[in-house]
Amino acid sequence: MTPDLMEAGARRLAAYRERQAGVGRQTESGGRQAAYGRLVDVSGPDFAHGVALYLEEVTVSFDGFKALNALSLSIDHGELRCIIGPNGAGKTTMMDCITGKTRPDAGRIFFGSTLDLLRHTETEIAQLGIGRKFQKPTVYEALSVFENLELALRGDRRVRAVLRSRLDGTQLDRLDEVLTLIHMKDQAGRTAGLLSHGQKQWLEIGMLLVQDPKLLLLDEPVAGMTDEETERTAELFLSLEGRHSLVVVEHDMHFVDQLTQGRRKVTVLHEGGVLAEGLLSEVQDNEKVVEVYLGR
Ligand SMILES: Nc1ncnc2c1ncn2[C@@H]1O[C@H](COP(=O)(O)OP(=O)(O)OP(=O)(O)O)[C@@H](O)[C@H]1O
Ligand SMILES: [Mg+2]
Repeated sequence: MTPDLMEAGARRLAAYRERQAGVGRQTESGGRQAAYGRLVDVSGPDFAHGVALYLEEVTVSFDGFKALNALSLSIDHGELRCIIGPNGAGKTTMMDCITGKTRPDAGRIFFGSTLDLLRHTETEIAQLGIGRKFQKPTVYEALSVFENLELALRGDRRVRAVLRSRLDGTQLDRLDEVLTLIHMKDQAGRTAGLLSHGQKQWLEIGMLLVQDPKLLLLDEPVAGMTDEETERTAELFLSLEGRHSLVVVEHDMHFVDQLTQGRRKVTVLHEGGVLAEGLLSEVQDNEKVVEVYLGR
């Protein structure tokens, strides 16, 4: 990183720390909502009926092989849903379809009760409020935690231009809120490349959260984490429930147990469709599920 960028970053961090110390702190009201939403020139999703996401008979074929086979699935607004299932069940393909990376051959996908996602591009879908976390963390290693969040907040990848311009108070408040959520407030000035694997994963989740997505898709988020990091990730996701809808794909049953706490629903995918749905204890007792997945 060049000295001028480092200096600009240090200045912003100092301004941020000053605000934390209460120096020149203004009222937090006003403009908050407006600053959260990113502008999209299409009408947004409607969650009034309690539906966050609805897949209707979605089919995806790769050279004749059906990775998704008439998959139907519904997620409630504010729900935290875990999706499990054997390798090749279609879990990642499902996320690819929701985010517009893969176009289904048949079926429909709605965000909220009416917004047809198949009419939108991948970029528009992200702007509409669907954030996706891939397995491998992709943070800017040379930049600080704070600067990584700042770039994500602006949704602009031109590092130099972004780091030279100033953040307004609402934006600084949002960064502070997210740093608190991901428990990384004391790491704000740290170079991201020096973080542990778990911390990089949290930072990347923070980079999604600054944009306040309505729906978060998380594909194997605790792969490679220590037990303690896994536990903290479960706490983080549980704290996001309600304000965000979350779809978490995971093979780690201990993590799924921590997330569902005996009362949240789990969906089991197999061969591109829903094999079972219910409490973790119920699907663990389901003979079909044991046969294709848990009993291996
Ligand atoms: N681009 C592609 N081209 C061809 N086949 C693909 C493609 N993407 C996925 N598949 C196939 O579709 C099936 C579903 O893959 P997918 O990655 O969705 O499974 P998954 O449930 O995420 O598995 P895992 O638990 O291993 O991550 C697999 O058989 C896979 O090989
Ligand atoms: Mg996968």
